[in-house]
Formats: sequence, structure tokens, C-alpha cells
Amino acid sequence: MIQAQPERLRLTGVGWLLTGDGPERGPVRDWHALGLRGPCELLLGRSPRPPAGVQAPWILAGIADPGGFSATPTQRTVDLGGLGLTPAWVDAHTHAVFAGDRAAEFNQRLAGRSYAEIAAEGGGILRTMQATRAASVHELVAAATPRLREMMDWGCRVVEIKTGYGLDGASEVRLLRAIGRLAQQFAGALQIIATAMPAHAVPPEFKADPDRYVSVVCEEILPAMAAEGVPCPFVDVFVEGGYFNVAQADRIADAGAALGMALKAHVDEFADIGGVRWAVARGATSVEHLLVSGPAAIAALAASDTVAVCLPLTSVFLREGYAPMRAMVDAGCRVAVATDCNPGSAMSTNLHLAMQLAVLGGHLTPQEAMRGVTRGGAAALGGDAGPLAWDGRLRIGGAFRATALAIDGPDRLFYELGAPPRARPLPHFG
Ligand code: NIG
Ligand code: FE
Repeated sequence: MIQAQPERLRLTGVGWLLTGDGPERGPVRDWHALGLRGPCELLLGRSPRPPAGVQAPWILAGIADPGGFSATPTQRTVDLGGLGLTPAWVDAHTHAVFAGDRAAEFNQRLAGRSYAEIAAEGGGILRTMQATRAASVHELVAAATPRLREMMDWGCRVVEIKTGYGLDGASEVRLLRAIGRLAQQFAGALQIIATAMPAHAVPPEFKADPDRYVSVVCEEILPAMAAEGVPCPFVDVFVEGGYFNVAQADRIADAGAALGMALKAHVDEFADIGGVRWAVARGATSVEHLLVSGPAAIAALAASDTVAVCLPLTSVFLREGYAPMRAMVDAGCRVAVATDCNPGSAMSTNLHLAMQLAVLGGHLTPQEAMRGVTRGGAAALGGDAGPLAWDGRLRIGGAFRATALAIDGPDRLFYELGAPPRARPLPHFG
């Protein structure tokens, strides 16, 4: 009997390769410790059984010096013409689907008003909520599409998108539907993971009774989102004074868990109200922002698997301090770096710039920032056991997800501050 040959693809002309191997936690200062090697070629194989919904039909079957696979039978050869490869960059925290903009608020902040003052007067998240409630799924998709294209230009290949500008059942479901359509539209180029965040703010109709809104989130909105047919593997909650306290967040985490949603939480963005301790005790996949996190929070994270998602663009955009990224890495926390792309606190799609700021402002090494958008970002989305079924490395036998770069080595990604996009599309292998 003739056995069908498994489909094989040879990728030649790889200028340099960073596999992302090496320690997952702790300081790293050397690209070789992250698996850097020079010119090479790769052998890819069709994944025999890609996990359901996973857009990574290829696995990395081998790495060799140039010419090393010339005698290996393959169906196709693709020449990368000298591009470098790293594991796919993951933007693990965005609010990229919304309507309208908040340029006027930005100008108010430049004139001296604070984010909190503007929010207290009905601006902030609630202003975007009004525009988003008035938008159709089609309009939301049309508004988000150029943002996601820009993200790809900057090198992002996997993006998490939170709902949270609808703040009622119908609008949150519409946001999730828009995310689902974008996932189809970008299939094969950009993988999209949805997070349910109806607990992003208390909408005006529940201002007098926030606990009642929490009940609506738990009993109506989250179940409606889970029933929508768009995969929504995470639930997120903004734990902050004026938004949700720990007791309310706990109810939301319970409701999400009952629907199979793993926990993420926005914590310590402006004030520490005990969010990190709570989220770690609940086994959260990630905690995000962390601008004001202190030594106790860092120690709790270091002793846990919860990923600290740091968002340096938000620090710059709000003129606030940086999350204590250096201390977190030194203490042994799992650290990710993401954009927070949203209209109020980080109007940017630029994950490359976020990495640069994590180095220049957050005092990470370039290697730690790169690890933050690859292994850290994948971990913040659940890693091997999560919806990506991927741990953010290019491993033999593992999924082949990569960012291709027209630059002669990884150091230049950091040295050339504010450089134009260096990422290039990988040929679509089919
Ligand atoms: O991640 N922290 C809460 N949410 C956003 C801000 C959203 C907005 O201002 O529209 C953030 O910073
Ligand atoms: Fe956020």
C-alpha cells in the first residue's frame, strides 16, 4: 500500500532566526540565550491534527544551515530572501473595537485635566460607549479593520480584543460579533482572541446601583455572550476605585468561570485596591496595567503563574509612571508587553513601539521585551493549554507562528527608535 507523503514545505533564505527558547522567567541579556542563530532554512510540516479553531496548520519540523534540506523531499520551497524570523508577536491586551474617537479629551488632558476628572464628568469610557452603542456590527468592523492592519504592519500576528464599550447585553454581543467577523476576515494572517469585558465601567443607567449592574453582567450579559457562537475564552474586569471593587469582581469571575471563561483583570492602573492579591488567589491567567503595583503585588505574582501584562504606551499617553517591569522580571514574574490600543488611554496600534518603551522607560532588556511579546504574550492568552494551544516559541514539533522582519538582526528593532514598520507578511502557505 502506498502511504500518502505528509505535506512538507521548505523555507529557505531565512536571514536570522530567534526561536524564543531559554528561560521563561528572570533576567535575560543575551540574544543567544533566547535562541538566536544566523542564516538557516526551515522545514515545515502540515499539522496532522490542528486543534479546533487554531489557525496554525503548520508545525516546525526542522532547522538546518542553508542548503541543509536540499535532499529532503518537499512539495514546495519558499524563499524568504533574507528576512529574519521571531516567534509571532502577540498583542495580549487591546480594546481595538470601538466607534468614535476621543481626540477632544486628549487635548483637554494636554491642557492639564486628568483622566479621572474627564471620566467623572461622563467622558472617558462612557463617551466611547455612547458612540459604540449607536454603531452597527458592520460599522464596528469597518472602524477596526484599519487598526488591525496597522497592528500587522508593526509585527503583530496574534491579538486579543476586549469588548467593553457596549455595557449592555445587546451592545456587548454586537461587539463580540464584530470581533468574530474580524477573526474571519483576518484568518490566516492575524489570529484574534476575544475577551468579554462588560465589567469595563458601570453604565449611566446603573450609576445609583452598581451591584445591580454586576448582577446583570453575571446573569444576562455574560451568558448571552457565551451563547453567541463566537469563541470567548476570557472574561476581564476593571478593578479600580470608581469602577469595580474586589467583591464585585469576584462575582464576575465566578460567572465567567461557570461559562468556561478564564480570568483576566485590569488592576493597579491608578490605585491599588487589592486587585493583584485577589486575582492571583483566584488563579487569574493575567493581571494587566500594574502601574502602581508595589513589592507585595510583585512577590505574589512571582510566586504564581499569573502573567503580568505591562502596557508602556498607556504610561506615556497618560503621562503616568511605568509598571515596575524591571522589578517584576528580577523577582521572577512572568511578564508580557502589549499595547492596550484604545481610544482613551493608549491610541496606538504599535506593538513595536511598546517594546521599545518597555526597554527605554520600563528598563527591560531588549531580550526581555521580545520575550514579553512572544512567550509572555502567549502565556497571557493561556499558553499551550489556552485557545492558541501555543507557548510563544518556535519549537521543533510545535506550531509554526512567526513574525518576519526586514532588518539585519534583533538589536536594530530597539536601536532604531520610532522606525517605520519592519515586519513583512509571510507568504501565505495555504
Ligand atoms: O485599559 N483601564 C481601563 N480601560 C482602558 C481605558 C479605556 C478608555 O479610556 O477608553 C485601559 O486603559
Ligand atoms: Fe485596558
